[in-house]
Amino acid sequence: MSLIADLAEPAPTPGTAILRRQRVRESAARTYARSFPIVPVRAHGMTVEGADGRRYLDCLSGAGTLALGHNHPVVLAAIRRTLDSGAPLHLLDLATAEKDDFTTALLESLPAEFAARARVHFCGPAGTDAVEAALKLMQTATGRRGTLAFTGAYHGMTAGALAVTGNVAVKEPLPSGGEVTRLPYPYSYRCPFGLGGPAGERLAAVYTERLLDDPSGGVVRPAAMILEAVQGEGGAVPAPDGWLREMRRITAERGIPLIVDEVQTGVGRTGAMWAVQHSGIVPDAMVLSKAIGGSLPLAVVVYREEYDGWRPGAHTGTFRGNTLAMAAGAATLRYVAEHRLADRAEQVGRFLVRELTALQTRLPVIGEVRGRGLMIGVELVDAAAELDACGARPADPALGLRVREACLERGLIVELGGRHDAVLRLLPPLTISDEQAGAVVERLAEAVEAASEPR
Ligand SMILES: Cc1ncc(COP(=O)(O)O)c(C=O)c1O
Repeated sequence: MSLIADLAEPAPTPGTAILRRQRVRESAARTYARSFPIVPVRAHGMTVEGADGRRYLDCLSGAGTLALGHNHPVVLAAIRRTLDSGAPLHLLDLATAEKDDFTTALLESLPAEFAARARVHFCGPAGTDAVEAALKLMQTATGRRGTLAFTGAYHGMTAGALAVTGNVAVKEPLPSGGEVTRLPYPYSYRCPFGLGGPAGERLAAVYTERLLDDPSGGVVRPAAMILEAVQGEGGAVPAPDGWLREMRRITAERGIPLIVDEVQTGVGRTGAMWAVQHSGIVPDAMVLSKAIGGSLPLAVVVYREEYDGWRPGAHTGTFRGNTLAMAAGAATLRYVAEHRLADRAEQVGRFLVRELTALQTRLPVIGEVRGRGLMIGVELVDAAAELDACGARPADPALGLRVREACLERGLIVELGGRHDAVLRLLPPLTISDEQAGAVVERLAEAVEAASEPR
């Protein structure tokens, strides 16, 4: 069918026509639009309303961006106030009262020991640009090139960030990027050493240390190590606090800057304002985006001042002065802190993990339920297959697709992730009510049950 003919077809509803036009006009790299063929017209809190009048509970939250859910009154008020004030909306990286206030709110929210001697660099408005900035910063500061990164990592889609990302499928068609040494992330259920538990975690640290110290290990002293304290796209895999402390010790002892990518874990999501606070480690740099903009695009790298060896313009960009995002972000950071929403995330997260784990007896396709705070993963497996040495069954990505669809049919937006795209990832807003949490469990259980019935 030609494009013109397709566009000219009469539309049954505004939603279906929009979806069809999107299919023929936008790129083949469309992502979430494929998973969720809906046309949102209104949203509030955790609820999204489609053009077809259906309502959905949103457990994707803009891939973890919406700490306060959609269109929170505090965020809307901050945006309206800024619009009404006549403040310029675009300002490169010039000084403004909004940026000044955002920087204050951000530094106040960060671990005190880190913030006390930190510098903030405003980046292009996506997490991936802040990752690029952090890598470049440490290359400049150390005069070294390589990076240490982990299996299962996700850091973004631009060249440097993609190089440190683990996902082979997106890297395969491209020329190899950067000097990256891939290290094992302690993912107990699918342990890289086939051990799992504390033994696997210990080996992951020992291997890292011994590799770095091996004169024939092939690793030239790197510019930085970059890691996520809880892997998000990697399948909601929390790193044990002890392992994180080991990474901090190993890097500190060898003069390797440690960058913690808190793009997805930040702003209360894991049950602490910042995920590093669980282990108490103090990184050399933190990469922040998503929730810090209060639903508008904003990204920064915050780093210890001794690394500030950049020349003016070393990491520039046109869109580093988004006034509305700074106002919305400052309001969000303060609201999360004042209303102790990290504690709320911890509490509801515990409830969800408990309830979803309880489903395992009835629904053996649920291989593992894990997570930290409101960053939860439900790994779907082939229940008929043998258990491996770690007590895991093979992932079942086809079932994942069916469950995601069955969730959508039941008014629940849940995205897949993880190594095999078989992990249902729950990232509800921190403002989720008890009732909504109950509804999530109910709908998800029904969807898993329906999708795993023999066909
Ligand atoms: C941990 C982490 N780092 C970086 C990124 C990239 O952020 P963006 O999509 O805004 O470029 C993401 C996105 O999901 C992420 O989860």
